[in-house]
Amino acid sequence: MNYDIKDIKLAKKGALRIEWARNNMPVLGLIRERFRKEKPLEGYKVACCLHVTTETAVLAEVLKAGGATLAVCASNPLSTQDDVAASLVKNLGISCFSIKGEDTRTYYKHIESALATKPEITMDDGADLVSSIHRRSQVTSHKSQVIGGTEETTTGVIRLRALARQGKLCYPIIAVNDAETKYLFDNRYGTGQSTVDGIIRATNKLVAGANFVVCGYGWCGKGVAMRAKGLGAKVIVVEVNPLRALEAAMDGFRIMPIKEAAKIGDIFVTVTGDINVIRGEHFRVMKDGAIVSNSGHFNVELDIRALEKLSRAKKQIREFTDEYILRDGRKIYLLGEGRLINLAAAEGHPAQVMDMSFANQALSAEYIARNYRKLEKKVYKVPEDIDKYIAALKLKSLGVTIDTLTAEQKEYLASWEIGT
Ligand SMILES: NC(=O)c1ccc[n+]([C@@H]2O[C@H](COP(=O)([O-])OP(=O)(O)OC[C@H]3O[C@@H](n4cnc5c(N)ncnc54)[C@H](O)[C@@H]3O)[C@@H](O)[C@H]2O)c1
Repeated sequence: MNYDIKDIKLAKKGALRIEWARNNMPVLGLIRERFRKEKPLEGYKVACCLHVTTETAVLAEVLKAGGATLAVCASNPLSTQDDVAASLVKNLGISCFSIKGEDTRTYYKHIESALATKPEITMDDGADLVSSIHRRSQVTSHKSQVIGGTEETTTGVIRLRALARQGKLCYPIIAVNDAETKYLFDNRYGTGQSTVDGIIRATNKLVAGANFVVCGYGWCGKGVAMRAKGLGAKVIVVEVNPLRALEAAMDGFRIMPIKEAAKIGDIFVTVTGDINVIRGEHFRVMKDGAIVSNSGHFNVELDIRALEKLSRAKKQIREFTDEYILRDGRKIYLLGEGRLINLAAAEGHPAQVMDMSFANQALSAEYIARNYRKLEKKVYKVPEDIDKYIAALKLKSLGVTIDTLTAEQKEYLASWEIGT
């Protein structure tokens, strides 16, 4: 089923918001101009399983300018911006299979619809396309026509590395997440800002003075903690990795196990990529009015079933805010059904950071098209020269100039002698 859009108004609204994103994505703009001339993706079908946001639409324009035929589906049932999906179909002539709030069955049906276009290149955010292809090949021993794919997020890269370790990865993957121009900016500043934005949009609560518990002090967690601190929250970090916990301690945060943090937190966010980080025993001791949310990729970080079991009633009190009344009368508020709160209740990452993440996507797709014959069924890093090129373009777009090494400095840095 193609996404059937009748609402021209919706598509118009999407087009304007896409224009706003495009204006804030200068690196992708430069790539689009080159792609228009060189057509590196001519003749390729690309399936994109990404959050259907304005920034994704700008990436779609770039891939299309490069000659690709696209099919877009969502990488999360709640992250689609319907006006963007409408605009992709109406204004850009791109097939888009996604509706905000679709149920799980429809979500996977839409992934199948994107795969039915027989893509040669896949773009994943969470590895759902690769997993679907993998499952299908197990059942039918169907041989995939895909020559390569890319992966946008930490959780997806972890899943794909697990497949590669078992020798089951069906084609080469470029781990866009692991590019420095991706995770250092997108995960940290993008997730940091938009997660706090999502919590505020869903609740309109004052962050200043609140005990704000961040579970996971990876690149996303660092960003969330930094932004919550900036709004005046008393930030508590929960970690399992001693190095990350030490880093959080020296960044000035309180560290404690979740069973302690659960008793004093006002607002909770999980960003671990792990399962059941906040469980029944933690909900049981939370304060009346505690707010619980997740910004990790899958909705498995909060044990929502346990929360449901502990509750005698539930109602949606605001959009993206469900009130659970526990048997003893305490209330716990779950945001965005435990799904990525920055995409469910806010608009995801700002265009300025997605400019770099999606520049990595576009250039990695080009790299696959040019080099797939040399690639093995492995997870590859984005080539360093692409990463550095994107950083240089971004700096240029920001009007920032930097120094270059002198010949003497180059020689010194390449030698073992101390010099005089
Ligand atoms: N919301 C978004 O838009 C967005 C953007 C990028 C990434 N993500 C997702 O966010 C998650 C985190 O990504 P990241 O790049 O920060 O990963 P990361 O690997 O850098 O950090 C995860 C951290 O969580 C910690 N952790 C694991 N299990 C834990 C537990 N039970 N309790 C406490 N801490 C625990 C790990 O030790 C690690 O430090 C992933 O699922 C990723 O896909 C979301």
